[in-house]
Amino acid sequence: MSGAGTADFFYREAQRLGYVARSAFKLLQMQKQHKLIKPGASVLDLGCAPGAWLQVACQSLGPLKHGGSVVGIDLKKVKAPSLHCDARVQTVCADVMNLVKDRVRALSPQGKGFSVVLSDMCPAVSGITTKDAALSIELGMRALSLAVGQAVLPTLGDCHEELPEGPASEANDGGVLLPGGNLVIKLLESEDVQGFSQICKLQFKKASLLRPKATRSSSREIYLICQGYFYEVHCVLAILGLSSTRRIWYGLCSMVTSMHVLCACRHVYGFVGGWVRMVWWWSLFLAVQ
Ligand SMILES: C[S@@+](CC[C@H](N)C(=O)[O-])C[C@H]1O[C@@H](n2cnc3c(N)ncnc32)[C@H](O)[C@@H]1O
Repeated sequence: MSGAGTADFFYREAQRLGYVARSAFKLLQMQKQHKLIKPGASVLDLGCAPGAWLQVACQSLGPLKHGGSVVGIDLKKVKAPSLHCDARVQTVCADVMNLVKDRVRALSPQGKGFSVVLSDMCPAVSGITTKDAALSIELGMRALSLAVGQAVLPTLGDCHEELPEGPASEANDGGVLLPGGNLVIKLLESEDVQGFSQICKLQFKKASLLRPKATRSSSREIYLICQGYFYEVHCVLAILGLSSTRRIWYGLCSMVTSMHVLCACRHVYGFVGGWVRMVWWWSLFLAVQ
């Protein structure tokens, strides 16, 4: 049997349309439903081999004159496919678990960060359901910490000890995702997926789960789609993540500064506006320390 929704259908369609893998249709469906990649966007594609998402991401950037860029990273050496990819696509061979965030950020346009982070990474499946699910959560957590930073990762169930911390030299600051940016993470279904999604709901305007039509019926994969990154949440959680001595020290310094800023802000913005701006600048000041 081969109709829409069957494995054969998507495999044949990928061949017909010049995509290197059927996974292209998963991102095409997400793109159609959520418009994650805007023309001119900067996209980071984690686990990019063999390159079908690179093709869809590059197509979604629109014509070359609109600019934009796609950076793919994979354990396997992969060349950007010649069809549907152009000079805006580059690939890097590396293990995302060991890659320092600053090195990833340096790959973005002007080193400012990415507007979209995609992770289709999956572990080498062992067939042991719980082990595969745990490894997939670990990869997902690394994608999340690369995107939004370590400071915002609370514990997930009982598996805190197993959370990837990234390379030892990595600074515990923000991630590579720009404010307002979108994030997609592939996970294997398990009881931790809901917890994972709750963590993301705090930091994004919207977070939802999708099982694309092109997913094989035997697969347990599911995609967490997060839209509209709230950078402010990172700032507040980063403050909470500071050591108590640093918090007291910054608190004292900031109190003095704040009173001055509050007076100035209230003068310019009125009572409520003044308070809001003072808290905002104070959070920002502490988060960048
Ligand atoms: C399902 S494939 C990705 C398919 C790709 N999105 C496409 O459309 O062509 C998953 C990829 O994740 C990669 N991967 C798994 N763990 C990784 C890691 N730690 N660092 C980088 N890549 C990883 C694998 O090498 C594999 O190529």
